[in-house]
Amino acid sequence: MTPPSWCERLAIPPPGLFVAGTDTGVGKTSVACDLARALRARGVDVGVMKPLATGGPFPGPDARALREAAGCDDAWDLVSPVHFETPCAPPIAAAREGRPVDRNACLRAYRRLRERHATLIVEGIGGILCPVTATGTLADWIGDFDLPVALVVPSRLGMLSQTLLCVEALSGRALPLHSIVVNHISSGPHPTAREDATFLRERLAPTVIGERPYDAMSDKHATHYK
Ligand SMILES: Nc1ncnc2c1ncn2[C@@H]1O[C@H](COP(=O)(O)OP(=O)(O)OP(=O)(O)O)[C@@H](O)[C@H]1O
Ligand SMILES: [Mg+2]
Repeated sequence: MTPPSWCERLAIPPPGLFVAGTDTGVGKTSVACDLARALRARGVDVGVMKPLATGGPFPGPDARALREAAGCDDAWDLVSPVHFETPCAPPIAAAREGRPVDRNACLRAYRRLRERHATLIVEGIGGILCPVTATGTLADWIGDFDLPVALVVPSRLGMLSQTLLCVEALSGRALPLHSIVVNHISSGPHPTAREDATFLRERLAPTVIGERPYDAMSDKHATHYK
């Protein structure tokens, strides 16, 4: 298997990475799958997880894509322990479906997967401050996973502010930032794409800034988020 070449600059640490994003639809699953494929190509035993998922039947498309990329056969209840069918933020889906967002179920599944795999790639939900309960956000839960964060940022106008907001949210909670992945998600023009990536490199040094290229094949299935 040929590993996705953009991953080569990212040294993925053995316990793994928590892949978070500035927003929904920015490429978290795409990045997480590439990271899992890159590890697999190096012969690393990699597990994957989407602890919180909303939208459509169980297991959702993210969990399916992640498990296929990692080539593992962990039970869906471990890969995707908390799933709601309503496509919205978890507390709103939970209220509609009449059951709580079960933090302990996420942690139990995470611990099981940590025992099974040398490295885990965990995908978050929405953006960093996506509400996960009535009062808590994803950022409040990331620390439970004990993994450094790879932050996925879409290369488009507004990305600098979104990135800096997310970096503040992480540092304010003392959550370690491993890297930023600038995802060239759109074929449309972003005239300052180069300068924006360079700005982040200089402003956030020594954080590694990776760049995932535009992928026309993947864009065929793209949603309205761009
Ligand atoms: N570099 C890229 N080039 C072209 N299309 C891309 C790229 N990265 C992601 N996409 C497409 O953009 C869409 C959203 O990507 P993805 O599902 O990975 O985002 P996400 O952040 O995981 O979304 P969600 O918040 O729903 O979990 C998908 O259709 C994906 O194929
Ligand atoms: Mg996703």
